[in-house]
Amino acid sequence: MNLEEKIKNKEAVIGVVGLGYVGLPLSIEFAKAGFFVSGVDISEDKVKKLSAGNTDVLDIKKDDLVDVIDSGKLKIYNDYSVLKDADCICVTVPTPLNKTKEPDISHIKYAIDEIKKILHKDLLIVLESTTYPGTTRELIAKEVEKSGYEVGRDIYVAFSPERIDPGNKKFSTRNIPRVIGGITKDCTRLASCLYRSIIDKVFCLDSSEEAEMVKLLENTFRSVNIALVNEMAMMCDRMGVNIWKVIEGASTKPFGFMPFYPGPGIGGHCIPLDPIYLSWKAKSYNFYNRFIDLATDINGNMPRFVVNKLQRILNERNRSIKGSTLLIVGITYKNDVNDLRESPSLEVFKLLEELGAKVDFFDSYIKSFNNDNGEYRSIELNEKSLQSYECVLILTAHKNVDYNFILENSRLIFDTRNVFKDCEDSKVVRL
Ligand SMILES: NC(=O)c1ccc[n+]([C@@H]2O[C@H](COP(=O)([O-])OP(=O)(O)OC[C@H]3O[C@@H](n4cnc5c(N)ncnc54)[C@H](O)[C@@H]3O)[C@@H](O)[C@H]2O)c1
Repeated sequence: MNLEEKIKNKEAVIGVVGLGYVGLPLSIEFAKAGFFVSGVDISEDKVKKLSAGNTDVLDIKKDDLVDVIDSGKLKIYNDYSVLKDADCICVTVPTPLNKTKEPDISHIKYAIDEIKKILHKDLLIVLESTTYPGTTRELIAKEVEKSGYEVGRDIYVAFSPERIDPGNKKFSTRNIPRVIGGITKDCTRLASCLYRSIIDKVFCLDSSEEAEMVKLLENTFRSVNIALVNEMAMMCDRMGVNIWKVIEGASTKPFGFMPFYPGPGIGGHCIPLDPIYLSWKAKSYNFYNRFIDLATDINGNMPRFVVNKLQRILNERNRSIKGSTLLIVGITYKNDVNDLRESPSLEVFKLLEELGAKVDFFDSYIKSFNNDNGEYRSIELNEKSLQSYECVLILTAHKNVDYNFILENSRLIFDTRNVFKDCEDSKVVRL
């Protein structure tokens, strides 16, 4: 039976490398579709936790994870050698930035070095991690060929970016359309055959570079539009115009406008990082992405804008940040997730501490976090605690929080997420 037949009959064994927000839902989808899946992760703790049916990924139903583990369809390992039996390997490892804000592709390199030890004919390797155009060809296809295999004949290599949106109840792995670009036509065909077995819609591109660039265009589009609206918000603040009403008004136009919302900055593993992967690569072609740099600058300065505006809000009330006791509500990087990576709320927290405030936080998804000054635990929200704060800053807005209770019991609220839409209470000040 050839590889295509094996995939179509669900007899192909799937390996998934990196079992985080991306790799875990993917593994479960393959297992639910009937494939045998070997998940590999370098974190021993994660392997133990997942094997026991536990995960921190909120979008995953515990029952789904337990079912595929109990049925033996998903097995989780801390050891790459199990991949010797895999017919298809999806790589979903992190692609962060290093200290100097350049792409850190060490996780992909590590994964490929390990996979090279178990290469065999009729193997499909798909990279899903977001990365700069050329990675799949340079880091995977070339390495495969160095090992003596011909890409497109012996081993198939493709890129297919994951587009998952944590916290999104409507769209998940199965119903988010997939784009795929292989090194050769046969690579694309086999990769699309694999993903069609778990994903409703698949769109094929002509090369891995096109597929890599699709993901970067999508996330750069978000970063730039968020920056535009953040800049508009800062301008409206100076002019005394309500940006939220402006966006609501503009959104009534049925074509040519798509709403984006201002906030204390961008976070997570995608929007702040991915455009930098692109601009870094572009520089090697002597091309400078001014939009990306400008958006990174504007979005990166939003925590400071929030703190400066809070300074003004308190000043008008003869108060200062120094000596104030403040409460941050929502410490995660966006609404309805439990992810703190690159969260702008952490930056606001740090800046307020540096200015001499005593800062507490409440987050319905996060019990504690650490910064350079130590560990902080989420406070309990009650009338007494709320009344003790000079100001409550709403930085992210989770659906499971009782904002009316916060409104009733707080002295002053700085709302950066328009939670109190249309509220005319003078104690609410918007971004
Ligand atoms: N989180 C998102 O919303 C999202 C959405 C779309 C795309 N992506 C992209 O997907 C990729 C993965 O992101 P994520 O959010 O799932 O990351 P994550 O940190 O949640 O998970 C990555 C997992 O990989 C493991 N790992 C790290 N290096 C490894 C290695 N060499 N071998 C095996 N396991 C390894 C880690 O222990 C971790 O469990 C990134 O490129 C990211 O940009 C993320």
